[in-house]
Order: sequence, then C-alpha cells, then structure tokens
Amino acid sequence: MTKIYTATKLEVFYQFEEIKPLKAAKMRKELWTSADIKKLFRAEDRLKSVQTLYNAENKGEVPKAERIPRGKIQVRNWRINQLPAIGKKYGFLNKPDKQIVMCKYIQKGGVLKTTTTYNEARTFALNGIKTLVIGQDFECSITDIIYPRQDIIKLEDSIKPLGLYHYFVEGASINEIIKHTELPTLDIIPETHDLSILEKWLNQQKRREYIYKDRLIPELSNYDVIIFDNNPGWTHLVENALVASHAVVCPLGCNLLAYNASETNMASILEFQSEMRLDTQKIIAYPTLLNKSSLSQQAYGQYLTRLSDYIINKPIRYTVAGEEALMQGQSIFEAAPSSALAQQYYELLTEEWKALNQPYDEYIKTNYSSFNEEEF
Ligand SMILES: Nc1ncnc2c1ncn2[C@@H]1O[C@H](COP(=O)(O)OP(=O)(O)OP(=O)(O)O)[C@@H](O)[C@H]1O
Ligand SMILES: [Mg+2]
Repeated sequence: MTKIYTATKLEVFYQFEEIKPLKAAKMRKELWTSADIKKLFRAEDRLKSVQTLYNAENKGEVPKAERIPRGKIQVRNWRINQLPAIGKKYGFLNKPDKQIVMCKYIQKGGVLKTTTTYNEARTFALNGIKTLVIGQDFECSITDIIYPRQDIIKLEDSIKPLGLYHYFVEGASINEIIKHTELPTLDIIPETHDLSILEKWLNQQKRREYIYKDRLIPELSNYDVIIFDNNPGWTHLVENALVASHAVVCPLGCNLLAYNASETNMASILEFQSEMRLDTQKIIAYPTLLNKSSLSQQAYGQYLTRLSDYIINKPIRYTVAGEEALMQGQSIFEAAPSSALAQQYYELLTEEWKALNQPYDEYIKTNYSSFNEEEF
C-alpha cells in the first residue's frame, strides 16, 4: 500500500538545515594527503589508519605519492589525477558489471539536471569508474563546467570545437570528439553550437530515434557509465538519448513550477517508453532544491506519494554550497566533503548506484521511496 505523506507530517520530522554558504570560494585542490583522501571517499572504516594507504602505496596497489616537506617531516601527497586509482580500491562505489547508459531528463529547467550530472560523473570517475558525459544542451552548460573555455589551450579547439554533429554528419572520428579531463576516468563529448543543426539532420533520417543507439553507443564500449545531460525541451537529441539509455534519471525540483510540470513530464516519458517499447528502461527520480517553505515541503510530500514507484527518497536540499562547488569545477565531495550537502549527495548517489546496477525486475520491486523517520 502506498503511504500518504502530508506536509504537516514532514514538517514535524524535517530538521531544517541551516543554509550556510561555504567560506570564500576556495582554490581547486590539487594535492591530497591521506587524511583528505579518507574524507573524500568517506572511508573511515576502510582507511582506519594512515598506515593502510601507505602500505598500499608500498605494495604498488595505489600510485606513488609525492613527498612534500612539512617542518621536519615529509608528508605524502597525491595529485588529483591519481585519485581514481585510489578510489577504485577505497572508494564507496564499485565498478558496474556491465555498461550503464543514463539519460538525465525532465522537461523543466533549473531543477539540477546539469549539477547532479556533474556531481554524479565526477564522483563515479573519482571512484575509478570510467565515465563519459555527453552534453546535449544547446546552451553548452555541462561543457562550460567540465571543460572551461580558459582551459582550452589549442587555438583551433577554441575556434571550432568538434562534437556530435561533426561525428555524425562531417565524418569526425569518435576520438576527435571526446575530450579528456584532469581525471583519467572522466571524459566528455562537449556541446557545440552545431547541436541545433544535428537536431535538424536527425529529423531527416530513417529510424531517427535509433541513431545514437545504433551508431554512437557501440563506439563507446570502453566506458562503464555514459551520462547524457539534456536541455529541458523535447527534441530528437533527447529522443535519441532516451532510446540509447538503460535509465532515465529525473531530478524533481521541490518548488511550485517544477511540481506543476511534473505530471505532464512523467506522462510524456512513459508514453515515449511504451511507444518505443523501452520495456526494461528504469525511471529513477529524486527530489532536489528542497527548502523549508511550506510549498517546497508539500511538493516533496506529493512526489513521494504520487511517484513512489520511481523516487529515491534522498533529497538534495537548496543551498548555495552547491553552486560554489560547481564554480570551482569540483564535485561537492572534493570542495566540501564535510558539508551537509556532501552527505546528501552521498546518500543519494549510493542509493542511485544500487538502483542503476540492479536488474530491472529487482529494481521495480525495491521501494526506494520509503520514509525513514530516523533520518529526519
Ligand atoms: N543544492 C543547490 N541548491 C540551490 N541551487 C543549486 C544547488 N546546486 C546547484 N544549484 C544552482 O542551481 C542552478 C540550476 O541548476 P542546473 O543548471 O543544474 O539546472 P538544470 O536542470 O540543468 O537547468 P537547465 O534545464 O536550464 O539545463 C545553477 O545555477 C546551480 O549552480
Ligand atoms: Mg542543464
């Protein structure tokens, strides 16, 4: 039986988190001590003593750290690009048995599609999971975060970056359109302004919804996870991403406008799934932008009730800390590992990872929406 959650009940149990900005936006962290690494991977139990990581380093199980003098002692520091190799052994997410393709989509702007995609992608990558983000927003939002323009060092890249359009229409090779990041486990196919021409081109193709599934995904078999970050409109780009994905992941903004749009949104995804016979495609939703206003609480309560088959009850709350981490080009685990927001992402991502890795039949029987009073 579906439980009914009312706003009043939620208001009683919900301990409102103070909205605290992080201190001044910090610089990107390049060097990581064993204490930092323990926090990053929330590995209190797996890295009980600093000696554990040092022993692993001696045995060659994790990369060699630089020795940086601090007073009379030498402190081991690892570079950011070495973290995925450490995360593979001591992280909190395991490599999947088979490839997972995710489509981040909901027909509503500003509900954290791009932010959560970025945090998911970077967290998967830090855990040693080989991840590719495919930007599908005409406004180039995820590209601007992962691959900031000031990082473009080759002039020709800045004049004409290559993307999906060049791959499908102009014969660029897959390697030419994939860009690497400082994490060896995180790559991106950046958005380019030619996506709008690709949209028109797709419209003229036969089996136009299957182009990505037939001609793109098979070229990307060396990735453990692929995430499409979409814009909020319904386009051929979105249809292609949906057909190619094992899971549609929908952030549900806990505010009036997102709530009002959610019913039609969900209906159009379900309709498309049934039209295209995507019978074993999961829908995974989670609440975002939850704040202490009564409207936000009511939207949250309604999502839990109405969408209990899809929703993971691990909300991401409204806070400026989310924006600040993004500005530094880091996941919240890197930027502020001890923050309340990092804890929310940890709870969400561990559940989401479980859901993504479950066989479809098991997934639909698991209830991720349950309301655990002890959490509040
Ligand atoms: N926890 C948070 N609380 C409040 N704001 C946040 C949080 N995390 C990120 N933001 C900010 O919210 C804004 C919208 O987020 P985002 O761009 O991820 O939404 P989106 O769903 O991708 O939007 P669009 O549909 O336009 O692509 C951004 O400015 C982002 O920095
Ligand atoms: Mg976006």
